[in-house]
Amino acid sequence: DRSPVIAIDGPAGAGKSTVARQVAASLGLVYLDTGAMYRAFTWLVLQEEIALDDECAIAELANLCVIELTPGENLQSPVRVWINHTDVTQLIRTPRVTSKVSAISAQSAVRQALVKQQQNWGKKGGLVAEGRDIGTHVFPDAEVKIFLTASVSERARRRQQDFKKQGQPEVSLDQLEKEIAERDWKDSTRKVSPLRKAADAIEMQTDGLSISEVTAKIVDFYEQTL
Ligand code: C5P
Repeated sequence: DRSPVIAIDGPAGAGKSTVARQVAASLGLVYLDTGAMYRAFTWLVLQEEIALDDECAIAELANLCVIELTPGENLQSPVRVWINHTDVTQLIRTPRVTSKVSAISAQSAVRQALVKQQQNWGKKGGLVAEGRDIGTHVFPDAEVKIFLTASVSERARRRQQDFKKQGQPEVSLDQLEKEIAERDWKDSTRKVSPLRKAADAIEMQTDGLSISEVTAKIVDFYEQTL
């Protein structure tokens, strides 16, 4: 017998992380950012200077690496992430990692290793897990499944705001739209667990909705379901 799981999937920049973190906080559940794990692993591959198409070396690294996640300082801050005991919290958000993460996370050995860890953490339930394949693959029996979307232009605008807040160099909306569309395309056309709405997920289009509105809708839905 396990506690409930909320699965939140969707394309890049749909606001999944912020929403998932707030839903977890208001329901007293644990928040699991699976994208942070794929990002941390991608950082490690780049750090070790392994060629992105060396699937054997990458598989070996995936089976040996140790990823740790702990909550950020407050509701606004992202999770803290360690890989092999190096704090990569900031390093996983760089354009260098973002541009390579889809290629690495398309490899089946990488997914197997990380999904195993996610399912282990989720054995007892009581969590809000967020990613691309949570409802379809990682926790197919999640009590609540949400597929969060927004138009590409809205997502680019949100990303630009995030960068601004973090004091990162300004990136044009055109450039951000291009990057987002490219990552969506790679994530949804890969062979292993592509980004897809689970048949039993509720799709929420979030253009024009605030974080707190989206959070409230999911919390309501959870309370109605259980
Ligand atoms: O959610 P975030 O943008 O941090 O995810 C980074 C990348 O990690 C995605 O673009 C995708 O390639 C990969 N990912 C994945 N499966 C997940 C979560 C993330 O393949 N469950």
